[in-house]
Amino acid sequence: MKFKIVLLVLSIVALTVSGEDRVLSDGWLFSRDASSWREVSVPHDWAIEGPFDAASKDGDTGKLPWRGVGTYRRPFVVSEHDAARTVVIDFDGVMARPKVYVNGKFAGGWDYGYQSFRVDATAFVVPGTNRLEVVADTRRHRSRWYPGGGINRKVVLKTMPKAHFVYNSIAVTAPVAEKDRAIVRVRWEATNAVDNAQVKVRLLLGDVEKACRTVSAKDEAVFELKAPQLWDVDSPTLYRAECMLSSGGETMTETVRFGIRKIAFPVGVGADADAWEKNGFHLNGRRVQLKGVNLHEDMGLLGRAYCRSAVRRQLILMKDMGANALRTSHNPVAPETLDMCDELGILVWDECFDKWDNTASRFPEEPLGPYIERNLRAFVRRDRNHPSVIVWSMGNEIGGCVGDKKDFTHDPDGMTRERCARFREAMLREDNTRLVGNGNMPHVAKNEFFDMGIWDDLDITGWNYLGSHEKAKAKYPMKPVIYTESASAGSTYGFYSGPSTKPYGYRVGMEAAERQMDSYDLGTTIDIADLEFDRMERSPWCAGEFVWTGIDYLGEPIPFRVDARSSYFGIVDLTGVPKDRYWLYRAYWNTKDETVHVLPHWNWQGREGEKIPVFVYTSGDTAELFINGRPQGVRRKGPVDLPGGRTNACYQVCGKYRLMWFDTVYEPGEVKVVAYRQGKRIGEAVVRTAGKPVALKLTQDYCDGEYAFYQVDAVDADGISNPLADNRLSFSVSGPGRIVAVGNGNPRAMESFADPSAHSLFFGKVVVVVRRDAPGLIAVRASADGLETAIMEVGGL
Ligand code: GAL
Repeated sequence: MKFKIVLLVLSIVALTVSGEDRVLSDGWLFSRDASSWREVSVPHDWAIEGPFDAASKDGDTGKLPWRGVGTYRRPFVVSEHDAARTVVIDFDGVMARPKVYVNGKFAGGWDYGYQSFRVDATAFVVPGTNRLEVVADTRRHRSRWYPGGGINRKVVLKTMPKAHFVYNSIAVTAPVAEKDRAIVRVRWEATNAVDNAQVKVRLLLGDVEKACRTVSAKDEAVFELKAPQLWDVDSPTLYRAECMLSSGGETMTETVRFGIRKIAFPVGVGADADAWEKNGFHLNGRRVQLKGVNLHEDMGLLGRAYCRSAVRRQLILMKDMGANALRTSHNPVAPETLDMCDELGILVWDECFDKWDNTASRFPEEPLGPYIERNLRAFVRRDRNHPSVIVWSMGNEIGGCVGDKKDFTHDPDGMTRERCARFREAMLREDNTRLVGNGNMPHVAKNEFFDMGIWDDLDITGWNYLGSHEKAKAKYPMKPVIYTESASAGSTYGFYSGPSTKPYGYRVGMEAAERQMDSYDLGTTIDIADLEFDRMERSPWCAGEFVWTGIDYLGEPIPFRVDARSSYFGIVDLTGVPKDRYWLYRAYWNTKDETVHVLPHWNWQGREGEKIPVFVYTSGDTAELFINGRPQGVRRKGPVDLPGGRTNACYQVCGKYRLMWFDTVYEPGEVKVVAYRQGKRIGEAVVRTAGKPVALKLTQDYCDGEYAFYQVDAVDADGISNPLADNRLSFSVSGPGRIVAVGNGNPRAMESFADPSAHSLFFGKVVVVVRRDAPGLIAVRASADGLETAIMEVGGL
């Protein structure tokens, strides 16, 4: 029996709320039909348990029952003292069009499901027990991915004095941010404050007070700090501004975190126009190339019920790959995600919308201007204190609304120069320390569209795919550009059909038959990673790229959008397991750690004597390959001499980034690669043929005391993971914990993630997510018929 003990200290993550704040997580009743109710905790996603509707043609939104109405009810108690004060309820996000009732009376709501909002319940609360009801309605929401349904982010009940800071009104900026000196400016809006009300502001670094000032509540506080600790990607130092409002004998304190850093997007001019250091994105005076990923907000098996641990696991994985930037495609994310980007040193392209139509939850009868403007302002107000945020984006791939031709220009909900200018102004009114831009489709990067002037007033533009950023730069040489979506390459963890010889190889052969995408990483729906690396090297003026996408997400299973429920685009699969591509990015992006990775697996029974190509992703420049100890030749990064007849244009550049052996012949045993840089050995990687599985194995890949994620493998008698194992598993937990989700990386799997006994290993892998409810020893068990059970004990307080 496999038996492992992992000790950990229980450290339930602290939420950033003050003593007067109550997080409303437990004790909710939920109903889809307003007659049968069940208990749920919030954040909640009513659709993630399924069932998946395999027959549905709508793979694009994940084949899950997210469309409809859901009602949430919960009592809350307000003391006599608090009932006489101001009582508000802060919602970080409710999908969609939430309406909030307190004691049966409509108290407020919001229209955009990804937006945070505050409901003032003061007029409706009574001392004692109160009834809160939230109705979420996704019926008219449109989406190009899985949006989930319900109260899927945190809810906080706050009581405060009548004189208080307005919601999200505290804004901290650092107009001067140098190594030796910073100016920090703290502003706010106070409501109901008496004339002589005051605000005391303390700037803190850790627990150390760095400065303190008391000013009139109508004023602002400006500080000069000597030798500040700058926020940077490798040293993300965070300060806090503790703001205490005193008015008429009452006080309230609100604390915001901020970072001191200087950002710029310089544009090269004259003879230096193409100089690397004169262009791109600069942080604290030096160029930092954006190595970014796009992420949708689902958390794979957990859907859209926000889980800080699940997102932290994702961000850490991205960071280890060498990514330093995130594009919040294509909506405001939970505030905790930006908190973590601040903490981990991840730069953020913060995006508010996909389209401006009902993908933004906007009904066609609602005038576009006020709806979009109001939401953009709310978005900027909430996110402006995060040092990680470097750009505001007003949307992604929005059509143009200029003419009546049936093309890019024919979208009544689209962009005009006036709309872009107006929305930019609106965003800058809330924060003028970042550039404002948007992300655009590749085929609109044409003079005929540029000449309409749509982008003329934006500070920065983002371009998706096919090198479209190059055309935008030619048109706007003085505007910074970002490659907001690159690659859109697809692959399925563990699936190899053989290297594609054509860019759209998935249309024929084994990929088309199985509706899976090959993991030799040459097949793609748009371009491959290598081509984009090369493009970035050839565009020194470009601030960097954001790969579509870092992690698989529910919905949009292009190119098999009818047959599958989740995407193929991820560098990491839906369960959080890195695909081969992860190591290709890591080899190039992560310049601190060495990477040596070899593919495919080496279990090709029945294909003995056939050619099975071997690829190596390494941070080295050279590698030597051995099969069962016999040398197969040395490969060096550079132009590749390819076997004839290959038509995939990708082959022309990929030799710069990966090493390929096309003529290796399969025989069971061991494939070993030894990698070198400048003649020095940097590491090796080995894959071995696995025998028949005899036991299950649990490997913890993330644990923070509250949540733990385990990968499950089936191993042979020598402990080698079998890459073809497809055993059906079941799980159980004893102790104060429970299984919250199980699943595998198969985009076509239709088993509910909530059923711990429904899942099979997919190319040898399953992931199980366990949640701790209380301190104490937890044991997680994975079993399968005919295999030895695996048990993992999770210690604790
Ligand atoms: C882009 C779009 C993304 C995603 C991607 C798939 O055009 O902006 O949201 O749909 O295509 O390739």
